[in-house]
Amino acid sequence: MTQLKDALAQAQRRLVAAGVPSPAADAHLLAAHALGIQRRDLARRVVLGYVLETGEMARLEELLAQRADRIPLQHLTGVTGFRNLELAVGPGVFIPRAETELSAGLAIEVASQLVADGVDPLVVDLCTGSGAIALSVADEVPQARVVAVELDPDAVAWAAENVRRLGLGDRVDLRAGDAVRADTHVLADLVGAVDILVANPPYIPPDAEPTEPEVRDHDPALALYGGGDDGLATARGVVAAAARLLRPGGLFVMEHGDQQGPGTRALVSGSGWRDVSTQQDLAGRDRALVARKADE
Ligand SMILES: C[S@@+](CC[C@H](N)C(=O)[O-])C[C@H]1O[C@@H](n2cnc3c(N)ncnc32)[C@H](O)[C@@H]1O
Repeated sequence: MTQLKDALAQAQRRLVAAGVPSPAADAHLLAAHALGIQRRDLARRVVLGYVLETGEMARLEELLAQRADRIPLQHLTGVTGFRNLELAVGPGVFIPRAETELSAGLAIEVASQLVADGVDPLVVDLCTGSGAIALSVADEVPQARVVAVELDPDAVAWAAENVRRLGLGDRVDLRAGDAVRADTHVLADLVGAVDILVANPPYIPPDAEPTEPEVRDHDPALALYGGGDDGLATARGVVAAAARLLRPGGLFVMEHGDQQGPGTRALVSGSGWRDVSTQQDLAGRDRALVARKADE
């Protein structure tokens, strides 16, 4: 007979020993998952002196063993939060990060302004992965028409599952294809028509392999490494696609690594762009390139 309070303390100690970065939060989320309840209901059970049933204890043990092996928490629970949404994630798709909520937020803010001005905006999300940015725009700006592009078939399947789960299939048009050639191929019908183009492409340089096992061993390589010596090969293709897809005055937002502010600003230094800036995250690190397509 193990009390929930004691099981949580043991779980936390085990995750600390395995070097898991957020042991308390993970212990609570895995316990809630093992019990089939929401995390917020866990505290009440602790106070009431809840005792785990044998099956619940076995489930928690199994989850802890996997998390101690540094399987991502989100692969174990099957979901992650992004802005207002709960997204299905698992092996084969990049787990959306909290910092990407900022890029999505900027796209949402500008899309909402267009709606206030009487325009129903067309928003494109290149490299959509699980669909996090595209689905958030559709969720928070119901007047927007959203097109999302993803190359990796496994990721496309996760994005399709999220579109279905969230019931946004009538407003999110998910297309399988190459973002780098999006203007000539998968989005040829949208050249010069896009109001907002947002992207979180892969951008890690080849010599900067992530150290966290959850990222290095479980996020797909296609989602991490951007190609080229500087990691910006895919980003260059995204910029070229944005230049052709955006209408004059359209907004471009592209996430990048914290060392890539100057390198990405250089990609839009020509006459085709104006209002170039870098958005920083809450820790003050360079995080996203922001620019407007020049007026004709
Ligand atoms: C860093 S992840 C971002 C996923 C999602 N936008 C997010 O923020 O969570 C980059 C995504 O780009 C996809 N990708 C890589 N190269 C691509 C390409 N040329 N065209 C379309 N998608 C690509 C990867 O498969 C991966 O899903």
